[in-house]
Amino acid sequence: MFSYFSNYFNSEEQPQEQQEEEVQNEINTVYHSGISNGIIDTIGNTPLIRIKSLSEATGCEIYGKAEFMNPGGSPKDRVAKSIILDGEKSGLLKEGSTIVEATAGSTGISLTMLGKSRGYNVQLFIPDNVSKEKVELWKLLIVGMNNANHFMHCAYQRCLGDSTAFYANQFDNLSNFSAHYTGTGPEIWKQTRGDIDGFIAAAGTGGTVAGISSYLKSRKSSIECWLIDPPGSGLYSLVNTGVIFHPKDRLVVEKLGPRSFYEGVGVNRKTENFNKASLNGAYRGTEEEGIDMAHYLLKHDGLFLGGSSALNCVGAVKLARKLGPGKTIVTVLCDSGHRYTSRLYSKTWLKDHNFEVSDLSNLNFVK
Ligand SMILES: Cc1ncc(COP(=O)(O)O)c(C=O)c1O
Repeated sequence: MFSYFSNYFNSEEQPQEQQEEEVQNEINTVYHSGISNGIIDTIGNTPLIRIKSLSEATGCEIYGKAEFMNPGGSPKDRVAKSIILDGEKSGLLKEGSTIVEATAGSTGISLTMLGKSRGYNVQLFIPDNVSKEKVELWKLLIVGMNNANHFMHCAYQRCLGDSTAFYANQFDNLSNFSAHYTGTGPEIWKQTRGDIDGFIAAAGTGGTVAGISSYLKSRKSSIECWLIDPPGSGLYSLVNTGVIFHPKDRLVVEKLGPRSFYEGVGVNRKTENFNKASLNGAYRGTEEEGIDMAHYLLKHDGLFLGGSSALNCVGAVKLARKLGPGKTIVTVLCDSGHRYTSRLYSKTWLKDHNFEVSDLSNLNFVK
């Protein structure tokens, strides 16, 4: 602190104006360096957390990119920022526009918060099976909301012929991919100082896994990048066999119905964003594994996470077992358990859906 103001006392020969400017600059440095210009400037640069329990149990260093620490509580803040800024640059998003999106969750929250901060209206089309916590949050954010079975189709139709509507289109808009290719990927590279052997994540739009895997492979092609895919999703089959939707997956979808708690991950088409992923292979992660992992991480590490983050950690353990001890593996901690207290962390919901949390003293529940 002392040195910051030393010039002020030692600069008698400097013109007064220059002295004043220097002092002002120093005051700005000391007192104002932590101020962000709105929420848009607080996105990204999230911590990389060493997950002690998983690291000790596997002999690998397992790190989680704490995306739940973004202001809207998920990596979708990065995506919303990228879509909005690119939309403004292209001139398609302008004063008076309504941002329209089909979303099962986090993207709706991020687009609403950022959209409002820049003066836009937001209208969301959501599926029927979204958690009550997210719907409540949207209601609080006072956003136009439409439930629709074919929510993506409805959002697209809504925009046809309306020049004030801006379709965010997170599934196929490559601003999503570039948010992770230019943001999350380089951050992970810097935080690990390039000492990383594996990366794994689940995919919804595919923006996260594609952006990060492509960036990491561009820096070090030997990094093993994997997908962890929930039941009923066609991506596991796509990555491992080249066929998107195995008939077996359709049976699982019919059996699970709309109750899968893995909100936001798992998809049955190849999106433009997923198309850019650079992957070595895919694992399947069951609902049981994800539920146990969520409760395991809360018990052992105090990490209170949503289902997709738990699934990602299941994937990290599977990849650690494949690569062997001594390796460094990164995954993504997408959002917090706060959004899933009525399902994943509700004893009643778990019982009603015939789930039983296993013995959490070890990782045997990861198959
Ligand atoms: C909670 C959550 N986790 C993970 C994802 C998957 O991320 P991506 O769409 O980049 O594949 C999503 C996507 O909406 C999500 O909402």
